[in-house]
Amino acid sequence: MKADGRPITMLTAYDYPTAKIIDAAEIDIILVGDSVGNVILGYDSTLPVTMDEMVHHVKAVCRGVARAMVVADMPFLSYQVSREEGVRNAGRFLKETGAQSVKLEGGREVVEVIKACVSAGIPVMGHLGLTPQSVHQLGGYKVQGKEAESAAKLLEDARAIEEAGVFAVVLECVPVPLARMITGMLKVPTIGIGAGPYCDGQVLVTHDLLGLYPRFVPKFVKQYAVLHQEIEAALGRYKEEVQAGVFPGPEHGFGLSEEVIEEAAQKLKSLSEESGIQNQ
Ligand code: KIV
Repeated sequence: MKADGRPITMLTAYDYPTAKIIDAAEIDIILVGDSVGNVILGYDSTLPVTMDEMVHHVKAVCRGVARAMVVADMPFLSYQVSREEGVRNAGRFLKETGAQSVKLEGGREVVEVIKACVSAGIPVMGHLGLTPQSVHQLGGYKVQGKEAESAAKLLEDARAIEEAGVFAVVLECVPVPLARMITGMLKVPTIGIGAGPYCDGQVLVTHDLLGLYPRFVPKFVKQYAVLHQEIEAALGRYKEEVQAGVFPGPEHGFGLSEEVIEEAAQKLKSLSEESGIQNQ
């Protein structure tokens, strides 16, 4: 797609119904991001997310996908400790969930684990720029590569992980001109989030794009819907109708034939008589 100049689309999903909808919309890649920690599990960062939690969500997503490529995000400490652990954990996603590839964060420091995964037959997507698993080292969720030194480091990291064998690189919160340079330099596609229009593809967190809950909307997000308002309104109508006796209506119930009603009434009568005798 990069060679043809066809932009790649990628979105996050963490569950079966959302995966089905995204797949039906013919989005190219579904990322089961470790953003599941913030978006679904209520953690205040991605750091607490475990392999078992990821496997659970990736399995659900894969059950809903027929068409898109599924990328499973390697959570914090699942690949940083040793190459062996990295390959074993990446392999779990392919073996247990049905995902076709994994994503991991970092530059030169993760080159060895990328090489080891690729040698084991596991396709790896890289992730550079704002890498949320390093939030404490980065000093917060900030745009990366704004100074000459950090921009040069990002270029070197991009080159290093491409040479290690990644098939694509997510660029998160990188200045537009730098993302453009990296995209021009790499043979593999870049997928941007907060990295401007010159990347080979774009990714967003689906819950942000759909406005699924009221929270701070980052500058790089475009909300294509504000679904939390529609959901709140629908839930309010449900509450009012239950309280007013409007729901459920006759059309929501299941009927019984006159015959069965008659038999049930007879049964009820004899049960009442028996219990009347027992009570005497
Ligand atoms: O976890 C995630 O959702 C991500 C995207 C923001 C790229 O890594």
